Amino acid sequence: MAFLSDALARIQPSPTVAISQRARELQAQGRDIVALSAGEPDFDTPLHVREAAIAAMQAGHTRYTNVDGIRELKQAVADKFRRDNGLDVTADDCFVASGGKQILFNALMATLNPGDEVVVPVPYWVSYPEIVRLCGAEPIFAPTNAAGGFKLSPEALAAALGPQTKWLILNSPSNPTGAAYSADELEALAEVLRRHGQVHILSDDIYEPLVYDGASFATLAAVAPDLAGRCLTLNGVSKSHAMTGWRIGYCTGPRPLLAAMLKLQSQSTTNACSIAQWAAVAALNGPQDFLAGWRLVFAARRDKVVAALNAAPGLFCLKPAGAFYVFFSCAGLIGKTSAGGTRLDSDSAAAMALIEEAGVALVPGSAFGSPGHLRLSYAASDAALDAALQRIADFAEGCR
Ligand SMILES: Cc1ncc(COP(=O)(O)O)c(C=O)c1O
Repeated sequence: MAFLSDALARIQPSPTVAISQRARELQAQGRDIVALSAGEPDFDTPLHVREAAIAAMQAGHTRYTNVDGIRELKQAVADKFRRDNGLDVTADDCFVASGGKQILFNALMATLNPGDEVVVPVPYWVSYPEIVRLCGAEPIFAPTNAAGGFKLSPEALAAALGPQTKWLILNSPSNPTGAAYSADELEALAEVLRRHGQVHILSDDIYEPLVYDGASFATLAAVAPDLAGRCLTLNGVSKSHAMTGWRIGYCTGPRPLLAAMLKLQSQSTTNACSIAQWAAVAALNGPQDFLAGWRLVFAARRDKVVAALNAAPGLFCLKPAGAFYVFFSCAGLIGKTSAGGTRLDSDSAAAMALIEEAGVALVPGSAFGSPGHLRLSYAASDAALDAALQRIADFAEGCR
């Protein structure tokens, strides 16, 4: 009898974590590696949020809380959804977990059976198909392309939906492409979803405040209120407030679904960290004006990265509207040999050669279901980005 479970055998370890680990190993050997592989802001958690955590500890907020979050945080979440997204919700419609990832996990684990299908647009965030598979269900990949801005078209959505579809996962702005859907684009998808009443929609809005050039963010439950009863709107403070390590995610959705998620979470992690919950109250209720400064910094870095990559031979990218990633084609390098003698027969080989020969850690597109691409995170200092862009250009020029 095998010791490890069949469920475990269905999933792959996170490839983003694997690349970051290789970068740390080489750094530990004394190599100069610029790691642009991680998915977290390089800014510090705002001071008032850190102070709120200290105050919470000193006030004795160090015990178990309600499974779905302290009342104050659920109220702050409801206020946020009303204020920023125009969603008509109360604290009782909101739920808090240890990161957006646990919200996703709870929702899928609470609803999926073997044979169920989940539509996942490609390229996707690495965890979506793996969690679906862990639940014994099947991801159905809906293609997008660069010409369409890596956004799911109504036609591709209609082709992917079927009688077994339980969920559609939408992520805007997207990891890995940075693509962000406009309200009109979401309305066109809503039109298709109206014809499939059994499908729920998980809207992963975790990069919400990170949209640039004055673009405004849109979310499906607000664009199509008639579908709100089928939407789970997921968000969190990891990216919006540089709080990846605090592990706070939240959502709003239909109450029977939230009750099912609560049942599940009560038998797993119980509640999110009490201190981090109080910090998240300060994050959501406090000033948001620092975000305007972050947006300017991120947009300037994005412009620099896009210009440098498009100037390098064999590389091509679109200008993404949001998040802090550039997802670029390296198709022009595939089939060539690097100056260090590595045959670049795939994006994974290119990513490995880049880290070993050029000292730049990027994530291969195949990890996101789109071979022939690489993902660069520009949540890094200007000095780190300048060094990395020079090295990537030299590497590309050295390929024959
Ligand atoms: C698209 C997307 N959704 C959700 C998450 C989960 O974030 P967290 O669990 O830190 O809230 C991430 C993190 O990388 C992400 O990129």
